[in-house]
Amino acid sequence: MLSGHPAIEVSHLVKQFDGLTAVNDLSFTVGPGELFGFLGPNGAGKTTTISILCTLLAPTSGKASVAGFDCMREPVRVRENIGIIFQEPSLDERLTAWENLEFHGMIYHMAKPHRRRRMEEVLRFVELWDRRDSIVRSFSGGMKRRLEVARGLMHQPRVLFLDEPTIGLDPQTRHRIWTLIDQLRVEHHTTFFMTTHSMEEAERCDRVAILDQGRLLALGRPSDLIAKQGAKNLEGLFLSITGHALRDNGASEGEINRGRVRKMRIWA
Ligand SMILES: Nc1ncnc2c1ncn2[C@@H]1O[C@H](COP(=O)(O)OP(=O)(O)O)[C@@H](O)[C@H]1O
Ligand SMILES: [Mg+2]
Repeated sequence: MLSGHPAIEVSHLVKQFDGLTAVNDLSFTVGPGELFGFLGPNGAGKTTTISILCTLLAPTSGKASVAGFDCMREPVRVRENIGIIFQEPSLDERLTAWENLEFHGMIYHMAKPHRRRRMEEVLRFVELWDRRDSIVRSFSGGMKRRLEVARGLMHQPRVLFLDEPTIGLDPQTRHRIWTLIDQLRVEHHTTFFMTTHSMEEAERCDRVAILDQGRLLALGRPSDLIAKQGAKNLEGLFLSITGHALRDNGASEGEINRGRVRKMRIWA
């Protein structure tokens, strides 16, 4: 990471998919070592933003940089500094845990001795060392998620992107993933950029951004935002600014907007 730079810097970022504006003029920064929660209902533009920051998607306009490197002009440098835990499962289920990590390390051009050492370290870290030779298809959901975390840590990233890392996990696995996050923050000062639908998890973040329909509607420390809005808790705040309309069964923009106070923006 280049010193003196924010971990993540986004300025007037826009992404359009033929006619649909998925990311609409987003600007924010994330400091080194910060745990940043990126919140919003389904379709808000969270995964699209993460894909741009991880150099997997080009923006329509605006700027993004990670670890001091420009996501469009220096994608290789960005990738060297980041780890990604995708929203969708992305392991090769036909391979063993070991083979999945080996493949990842080779893609990242990690030399064999270093790669092998890291594979053991990360597998022990997520407590899958004893299962390293098992086929991933035989793993439980929680084990697969832990293996994805291990893979994201292989090249010791400065910035870790986690897209809904705890969705569908039992409380034990969820707790374990949070223990790993806390440990990485203390030991390596890793920066976290994560999305979650759990408001309990969001309240653990240093700061959160709340977006809807590609727009940033709130940004600040959870406690400051709650106080400023006079909300009961983060869930109350979230619903008061994004409304009650459901998103994943084709709700129209009108329906969504009727449910919320338009243009409400809170910075705390
Ligand atoms: N490749 C794509 N082509 C067309 N539309 C897309 C594509 N990816 C995402 N979208 C649309 O962009 C919007 C934001 O999606 P996404 O970033 O996945 O939201 P979130 O992760 O917050 O649920 C949605 O309306 C989604 O349907
Ligand atoms: Mg998403």
